[in-house]
Amino acid sequence: MPTAEFDLPAGHIDAPPVPRTDFPEQGRPEDEVLAQVRERFESNRFDIEKNFSITYSGIPSAISRKIDAMTAGRFFVEWAEESELGTLSMEREAVGMMASLLGNPSASGFITTGGTESNLASMRLARNTGKQAEPEIVAPVTMHFSFRLGAELMKIKLVEVGVDNETFLPRIEDVEKAITPRTVGLICSAPGGTFGTLDPVEAFGDLAWRKGLYLHVDAAFGGFILPFMRDLGYDIPPFDLSVKGVSSIMTDGHKLGLLPIATGFFLANDGSMFEAIPTERTLIHTTSSTKPGSRAAGAWATFRNLGREGYRQSTAHVLKLRDIIAEGVTSIPGMGLAAPKFISVIGFTSKMINLEDVHHQMAEEGWGQSYGLLGGRPFIRLSIHPSRSIEAAHGFVEAFERAAAKARRA
Ligand SMILES: Cc1ncc(COP(=O)(O)O)c(C=O)c1O
Repeated sequence: MPTAEFDLPAGHIDAPPVPRTDFPEQGRPEDEVLAQVRERFESNRFDIEKNFSITYSGIPSAISRKIDAMTAGRFFVEWAEESELGTLSMEREAVGMMASLLGNPSASGFITTGGTESNLASMRLARNTGKQAEPEIVAPVTMHFSFRLGAELMKIKLVEVGVDNETFLPRIEDVEKAITPRTVGLICSAPGGTFGTLDPVEAFGDLAWRKGLYLHVDAAFGGFILPFMRDLGYDIPPFDLSVKGVSSIMTDGHKLGLLPIATGFFLANDGSMFEAIPTERTLIHTTSSTKPGSRAAGAWATFRNLGREGYRQSTAHVLKLRDIIAEGVTSIPGMGLAAPKFISVIGFTSKMINLEDVHHQMAEEGWGQSYGLLGGRPFIRLSIHPSRSIEAAHGFVEAFERAAAKARRA
């Protein structure tokens, strides 16, 4: 049974060291400092174009980059409603557009800083509405690790349910067995971040409904790809707020939504659930406070500028990139998919080829991909962003072929 999104480290991880760095007494000329910044960026390991390892290396929509340049001094936060009305109205409408995309146009919610904050928001709502002295939340072990952070911060016991070794999916009977009188909520992923496999959201919804439990759907990736895949004719099972029993959903604009980093959406199916957040002393419903206006304006403008049609195009493109890579890599003898392909997140595995060597060799050639172990089995994982090119996808496959041939010889 896989232990997690990937195998957990054996020991404690130290915080990255801080080099002793004096605060400068005198300022330096702008040109000089900018040149130094450029140099630092160049020392990052991968060229952005060749980085298939993580969606965060994707380039956001053209209009959101223009908006970044025009939003200095703009911000939004609930308590500044009067002074920042224009900025806040874009946040409210962007949330509304996401609610209508994800199955309930009258759902309520917030722009967050991303998936971690959104997942924390769901645990807080489940805990506050569940009213148990020693609350527990049940989730498949393949959930994102932000739920473990939430459990630690909010003193919630996280009950992790095992998944099938081949499909990476939980059995709903196992989820049901893990429920106790202290359970306040269930969590599932649509899809999970490891290999993009879709948890059975409808079965989770049915279980949550029968037991009267809060159900949160982590659609970090899915929110910005599954609706458009459905438009394109793919068979996509129900996964969003339209599923009976789903209490909340989140999705990340900064993964497949073509929005800049630190743009997430948290949506509650029934806005009255937010009454469980004590705002009398905090004045806000979210766990991050003031956020850059560019995040509200960037989302609002990108949705209006691209529309559903624009997202269908970027979805078709990213799936084409995935297919070029999936077909290219799995036609190398000894290479296979780690799990059936579904979205733009895919994993490869092999019993014959040393994937750690492939990983290092590809990284040396400048190609970004992630290496890890799941249940002791090695894998290479990609999380492809729509801003990558077709040429780069072919280049990636050729580099993989070279690296695999070398790893086989070694
Ligand atoms: C499924 C899933 N949920 C949540 C997160 C957390 O997102 P963020 O990095 O925006 O906090 C991730 C990040 O990759 C993810 O894959």
